[in-house]
Amino acid sequence: MIAGAKYVGMDTCGTCHEKAVKNFKLTQHARIQIPGDEKRVPGQGCEGCHGPGSLHVDAGGGRGRFIVNPGKNPEACFQCHIDKQAEFSLAFHHPVKEGRMTCITCHDPHGENIRKPKILSVARVNEVCAQCHHEQTRPHVFDHQAVREGCTTCHNIHGSINPKMLTQRDNTLCLKCHAQLAVPGQTAKTIIIGDPTNSSYDHTSRLQQATCFSAGCHTAVHGSNINNHFRY
Ligand code: HEC
Ligand code: HEC
Ligand code: HEC
Ligand code: HEC
Ligand code: HEC
Ligand code: HEC
Ligand code: HEC
Repeated sequence: MIAGAKYVGMDTCGTCHEKAVKNFKLTQHARIQIPGDEKRVPGQGCEGCHGPGSLHVDAGGGRGRFIVNPGKNPEACFQCHIDKQAEFSLAFHHPVKEGRMTCITCHDPHGENIRKPKILSVARVNEVCAQCHHEQTRPHVFDHQAVREGCTTCHNIHGSINPKMLTQRDNTLCLKCHAQLAVPGQTAKTIIIGDPTNSSYDHTSRLQQATCFSAGCHTAVHGSNINNHFRY
């Protein structure tokens, strides 16, 4: 909220911020329509994030003048994304609430698509992560194909109840794609779902000991330069 200010609507913002309005019209946020007069109903258009703009407009605009800049503070985003506020409060999370990064580090608020990492392109998601996590995103001699499917296959990016922000804390994580199958007449084998020819030896006793990625087993889950079974 901005004390004393009223909503003016997106067209008014467009008289000075022409480019921002043009780009913004292609985003999901531009499609938010709340029934009623645009100039009375909060939560739509530019002012959904920037707050009511009448005082900013009357003052002829300007930096720090009667307008919210949500780049520095995620509170504006939490107004609507209440579930995200909860995710960032889970035990293991990216330090947004701690002020060490913001939503804008990973999302482009006005772009054609607010997700900087475009939904359809996994490579772009990993690119965003590469800004800070070099070790996991660099190419390896032996790449784990799961990483190519995207970091989000195994990590809940905003926050998780599991350490390292994993989507699952135990073997379930790996067994989503690798299955332990009993083939009649043979011992159980660990295979890649969809590729029964890629089988290895019986993992039953191993699975009881620890997770696939702890206890000195497949510790190099993101890929390895020395071992094709991602042992180290
Ligand atoms: C009369 C022209 C004018 C209108 C109308 C206008 N602005 Fe601005 N606005 C400006 C100018 C000039 C700046 C300063 C830009 C700069 O320094 O690069 C600015 C800056 C901003 C900033 C950056 C503030 C900061 O502290 O960093 C935001 C956000 C913003 N405007 C949003 C809006 C929104 C939303 C609307 C519609 C409600 C709007 N503006 C309408 C002229 C205008
Ligand atoms: C989804 C929320 C959201 C909406 C909706 C939104 N913005 Fe923004 N806007 C932001 C955020 C976040 C920043 C800060 C970006 C940064 O720091 O890089 C920002 C920054 C700005 C700035 C300052 C840019 C600069 O160079 O510092 C202007 C001007 C602006 N917005 C105008 C608009 C206008 C005009 C609209 C409507 C067409 C609009 N915004 C809609 C979230 C939003
Ligand atoms: C006025 C309410 C409102 C505000 C404020 C708001 N959002 Fe949204 N946002 C929505 C709605 C509604 C959707 C579409 C439904 C959904 O995906 O949850 C959405 C969608 C999104 C998406 C998914 C877009 C996609 O292409 O799938 C992202 C990412 C997002 N918002 C980020 C942000 C960020 C970052 C901010 C703060 C700068 C913000 N939102 C502020 C209401 C809002
Ligand atoms: C560390 C990077 C990062 C940060 C910081 C971040 N996001 Fe995201 N966000 C992502 C990625 C990556 C996805 C896509 C997830 C997927 O495809 O499974 C996403 C998806 C979303 C979505 C759409 C899908 C969904 O989960 O509902 C919304 C909405 C969203 N983010 C809002 C926010 C808000 C609000 C903030 C700040 C409070 C924020 N994000 C901060 C990386 C981030
Ligand atoms: C702007 C830098 C930045 C970006 C971009 C970023 N992260 Fe992070 N990441 C961090 C920081 C800071 C931490 C918290 C480290 C800490 O608390 O010591 C973290 C923590 C993590 C952790 C947990 C690590 C642990 O030791 O518990 C995982 C997993 C992770 N990030 C994955 C991702 C993924 C996947 C993406 C891309 C969608 C991403 N990060 C984007 C900075 C970033
Ligand atoms: C196949 C599942 C999987 C995928 C895909 C994946 N990770 Fe991980 N990641 C893990 C597991 C499991 C751990 C925890 C390893 C451990 O506890 O020793 C982890 C740990 C991490 C850590 C913490 C590192 C540390 O030393 O504690 C970061 C950061 C991280 N991952 C980032 C990423 C990024 C960035 C991507 C995408 C390029 C990604 N991960 C893709 C499974 C995955
Ligand atoms: C999104 C699906 C997916 C997930 C989740 C996944 N993997 Fe993989 N994994 C693959 C694919 C695909 C291959 C490549 C199979 C091939 O080359 O035929 C592979 C290969 C491997 C290999 C090499 C196979 C060999 O011959 O030794 C190991 C080891 C491995 N994964 C371990 C893990 C571990 C540990 C986890 C859990 C942290 C995990 N994977 C999670 C899809 C996945």
